[in-house]
Amino acid sequence: MEKFLINGSYSKGVKGTIRCSGAKNAVLPLMASSILFKNTITLRNVPLEANDIKTMIVLLKSLGSKVEILKKKKILKITNKKKHQLLVKYKYISTMRAGVLAMGALLGKYNKCSTALSGGCSLGPRPIGYHLAGFKKLNCKYSLKNGYINIEAKNGIKGAEYYFPTVSVTGTSNLILASVLAKGITILKNISIEPEVLDLIKFLKNGGAKIYLTGKRAIKIYGVRELNGHSHEVIGDRIEAFSYLCTAAITKGKIKVDKINPKYLRTELKVLKNIGCDIIVNKSSIELSRKKKLKPTRIKTSPFPGFATDCMPMLMAVLTRSNGISRIEETIFTNRYMSAPELVRMGAKINIKGSKAVIIGSDFLNGADCISSDLRSTFAIILGAMSANGNSCISRIYHGLRGYSNLYYNLKKIGVKIKKTS
Ligand code: EPU
Repeated sequence: MEKFLINGSYSKGVKGTIRCSGAKNAVLPLMASSILFKNTITLRNVPLEANDIKTMIVLLKSLGSKVEILKKKKILKITNKKKHQLLVKYKYISTMRAGVLAMGALLGKYNKCSTALSGGCSLGPRPIGYHLAGFKKLNCKYSLKNGYINIEAKNGIKGAEYYFPTVSVTGTSNLILASVLAKGITILKNISIEPEVLDLIKFLKNGGAKIYLTGKRAIKIYGVRELNGHSHEVIGDRIEAFSYLCTAAITKGKIKVDKINPKYLRTELKVLKNIGCDIIVNKSSIELSRKKKLKPTRIKTSPFPGFATDCMPMLMAVLTRSNGISRIEETIFTNRYMSAPELVRMGAKINIKGSKAVIIGSDFLNGADCISSDLRSTFAIILGAMSANGNSCISRIYHGLRGYSNLYYNLKKIGVKIKKTS
């Protein structure tokens, strides 16, 4: 298993430009939505090296889709040649939660499917109760057998109204996928308005779907008969952009991230500014430099446009080097502080109580052997390692490779003293 060896003593003041990849969490629902289309869809700016994308390609192929990969151009072309298989196997759902999106698309197209039910993941329980409650409103009946949800709308999916008890990103996308081809009108309320969900809506609308925003968190969907394939440029990855900005924040460096809409990170950039980073935004790039000592802060994660839970682990790592006491409250997942014990091994002072973390900034960290356990905690530990004195060895790096394209190459490029080992 791949490990990263990082020498923090020689990684101070990272510098350079990172070109953001297409957003993994935008591409996955777009790929699932391909099932609904009459003819070929073309996705551009796809982060083909991210392992979740590779898994989604295999999943779609297992259902019968034809997937063409143009690696150099970062393009995926997906065509539905024949009727899809209606079984989404456990092996895909267990390694990639977004596999559940095939359920909405298969229901939308065929009114029935069987999908493995995943349990939790390292972030905590990952229920799909809202997805199922929404599908039920759309005229579906389901049962659970041998770990699979068997779901069917015998008389077809019928438009209805569903209010999400709390905002769910994948839940919103799944219900949209199930209802774009439905009979009648579907109204979804308290939806996610993360940029990745809005990108899915834009993509479906350009293919002929009739989806209208009717309030800040509400949409109305008029079912249409078919969707026409077309070409779409995937939006930049805001979490990747934030992660690399944090490399400059923690090492007193200067980093520019390109191909990212700064509006996707408005709240997060405000926080980085408040703690003492200098930030310049352009139409599609963000530049961060840090010269001063970092100040502490207090944040609470929440759905977009609030502070993203996916950015929190990286901010926590940065705050371990601030001058004072910071407080974080995580409101989305129950187990999002997996990087904290690893940073503590480097000498960081972090106390976790339930959903709250108190971080007492330190003048220095010392390199240590660490284990990463989820995608974002991997980057948080890397941040700690690059700002620590001496060597750190980070194992189970594969968690990071699920969502960061060219991670090793990019870190090396900006001046992190890093080596790969097995
Ligand atoms: N929830 C329920 N019931 C449901 C659905 C969700 O109780 O039926 C709860 C969850 O337990 C959680 C909250 O609602 O407490 C929000 O979960 P959500 O459904 O929004 O999360 P998700 O769609 O499974 C996506 C991203 C995550 C990101 C979260 C929050 C994808 C593929 N995944 O997950 O990204 O952290 O939204 O923004 O889009 C990652 O990229 O590493 C990642 C974990």
